[in-house]
Amino acid sequence: MLKGKKIIIGITGSIAAYKAILLVRLLIKAGAEVRVLLTPAAKDFVSPLTLSTLSKNKVLIELFDEDSWANHVMLGRWADVMVIAPLSCNTLAKMAGGFCDNLLLAVYLSATCPVVVAPAMDEDMWKHPSAKSNLEKIVSYGNKIIPVESGELASGLVGEGRMAEPEAIVKYLESNFFLPKTLAGKKVLVTAGPTYEAIDPVRFVGNHSSGKMGIAIAKELFARGAEVTLVLGPSSQSITENGIKVKRVRSAEEMYNACTEVYASTDIAVMSAAVADYTPINTATEKIKKNGETWHLEFKKTRDILKSLGEKKTAQQFLVGFALETNNEREYALNKLKSKNADMIVMNSLRDAGAGFGHDTNKITIFDKSGREYNFDTKSKSAVAKDIVDTIIHLINV
Ligand code: CTP
Repeated sequence: MLKGKKIIIGITGSIAAYKAILLVRLLIKAGAEVRVLLTPAAKDFVSPLTLSTLSKNKVLIELFDEDSWANHVMLGRWADVMVIAPLSCNTLAKMAGGFCDNLLLAVYLSATCPVVVAPAMDEDMWKHPSAKSNLEKIVSYGNKIIPVESGELASGLVGEGRMAEPEAIVKYLESNFFLPKTLAGKKVLVTAGPTYEAIDPVRFVGNHSSGKMGIAIAKELFARGAEVTLVLGPSSQSITENGIKVKRVRSAEEMYNACTEVYASTDIAVMSAAVADYTPINTATEKIKKNGETWHLEFKKTRDILKSLGEKKTAQQFLVGFALETNNEREYALNKLKSKNADMIVMNSLRDAGAGFGHDTNKITIFDKSGREYNFDTKSKSAVAKDIVDTIIHLINV
């Protein structure tokens, strides 16, 4: 997967810099082309000679040599991905602030490729509010974070802040950037988020869906090469992937219209939105004033998007539904699979800890059309998205 991939490894001044030596070796062994950049402080922790020998390339540290200028712009454009590992507290702060007082930072600021960081800090520094807010800032710039691990730290204390192991970083790169584009040429429709059904100009009926699960699925499908249209209900989540076509909608009806518009040319549709089942019969044009002790609203059923796509489905199309249940999970999920003519249903139960709305994790069970069951552990929503997409790929047999 990494053969021929161009990877920049940026190393900062941290005890964990010794692990970067193994990281470079693993990447070279996997066939990647590696350029190593050190901050001046990193020189005290690892030897440029070791790294240039392993990477088979000159290690760069300074923006200027005696007689030449390191072209940070070209380096930033050359790479498929830039990995800063270990990322020290100091370099993190400079990245967050847009500082540029060494070559590594200049390349970071010029990089047109994705940038991934693997922080390494002592626990107290890691938990300092400034580190947290700096991390949030660089995430908002689109940078990705490889989570720290818990264990023995340089101080001798045991806690959170250890840099991820080199093997884990290689795995992260493979599964986040260099997956085979198995779904290239496939057009995919994904729905995500809640819908809001207007009562009057200031009120609506909605639900707690954040849209995180559906967005993670859209991103994963895109990473596998699919052409993705995401129909997204009112969600505060932002989508940084440029290639995903996002259609923002508000109500169940708008979501239905956006889906039916593109469905005929869709190969795979994944309906993960929490669509309102009912909508007010009348939406008042003026704000409804309060009068009386009680208030009765009348609702009518919305159109079931999944069901309607299931009715139109051709033999070439693959349809995925979701079932969020609180009881009789299996039975209800299997009924939905059948009654809506889906090919696969992803079930989650609100009884499982870490599953459902708002969490960053989820626990799913998948059923396919022939009733086969696929069980998964509680995982981050991005890891769950990988499981869902892997199962789709397995079932459509590409
Ligand atoms: N769905 C849809 N359009 C709707 C309602 C639901 O496309 N108007 C889709 C959801 O995106 C999800 C699946 O249908 O894929 C959920 O099935 P549904 O029967 O609506 O689940 P619930 O709303 O939980 O239904 P019930 O209250 O009967 O359990």
